[in-house]
Amino acid sequence: MNVVEYDRYGDASVLVLRQRPLPIVRPGHVVVRVRAAALNPKDVLTRAGKYPWLAGRSFPKRVGYDWAGEAVAVGAGVPGVREGDALYGMIQAWRGGACAEYALVRADELAPRPPGLDFSAAAALPLASLTALQALRDLGALAAGQRVLLNGASGGVGVHAIQIAKAFGAHVTTLTSAASAELARSLGADETLDYATWSPRDTPARYDVIFDIFGNRRFSDLRPLLTGRGTFISTVPKPAVILARVRTALTYPRARLVVVRSTTTDLTALTGLVLRGALRPVVDRTFPLAAIADAQRYLATKRARGKVIIAI
Ligand SMILES: NC(=O)c1ccc[n+]([C@@H]2O[C@H](COP(=O)([O-])OP(=O)(O)OC[C@H]3O[C@@H](n4cnc5c(N)ncnc54)[C@H](OP(=O)(O)O)[C@@H]3O)[C@@H](O)[C@H]2O)c1
Repeated sequence: MNVVEYDRYGDASVLVLRQRPLPIVRPGHVVVRVRAAALNPKDVLTRAGKYPWLAGRSFPKRVGYDWAGEAVAVGAGVPGVREGDALYGMIQAWRGGACAEYALVRADELAPRPPGLDFSAAAALPLASLTALQALRDLGALAAGQRVLLNGASGGVGVHAIQIAKAFGAHVTTLTSAASAELARSLGADETLDYATWSPRDTPARYDVIFDIFGNRRFSDLRPLLTGRGTFISTVPKPAVILARVRTALTYPRARLVVVRSTTTDLTALTGLVLRGALRPVVDRTFPLAAIADAQRYLATKRARGKVIIAI
């Protein structure tokens, strides 16, 4: 089978397409024929060597966490999945491996593909939408009638966070470039702000949840914009975020860091939102597997609107 690997950390040119044997099924796992994968900044950052203590120093490494495809072999102890089933999911482990014709995936990190979505649309959801769901629901406890500010609302996480926040009944304000404001409105944003001209000091509004998706804002700067029991959530484990998290462990307004988890339960919750018409995947561009380096270079521009897909 064709699989994308790399033999050292570096720029996108280290990525190579290789022939490897098919994975062998194990108990609690499923071998899937991958039809589409989606890229995330995690792919780019891992390949660039930003997380060697998490990704390890053994090579070759594989890439890709989000996938959608069909089960071709089902291991022992996997009830409810049969060969031929259309599935989607996110590989939690840092080894990745979704950018390949076949992948061995854990049975508790997948769910049936949402009805009505093709493989590319399904692959666009897991990591980004699970991040948005777990941040807004579990850390922010976002409820109907509350106000949420989403910074970086036009990227892979943001386009899904807007829709999930609206599905919770929240009033959604987005911070994007002026060019991305129309996309945010089309996904349900009630109010759009331009990050190039916006300043927290000139903002009278108060938010129950501020989700710093892009990860360039400081809790100390945005704290005055939070309600008394408000929550600031970041996606990026910077020292200032971790310090704010520790300092507000028992107090409000509080700072939190989201760390996405892949679970069948939450993938099924995303499927429920899709079936309700509350969540639709947003795909920016699609690349073939052989163009993985160009796809990662495009994602690394931080200009993608929605998800970058690898069709396999
Ligand atoms: N902790 C976790 O579990 C977790 C999970 C998922 C993602 N993340 C992290 O979350 C971040 C976002 O992920 P993503 O998938 O959404 O990334 P992405 O798709 O690459 O984000 C691209 C978007 O960023 C926007 N952007 C660029 N400059 C900006 C700025 N100065 N202010 C606000 N927005 C700006 C762009 O909007 P414009 O074109 O409008 O400028 C573009 O739409 C990444 O750092 C990723 O590593 C963490």
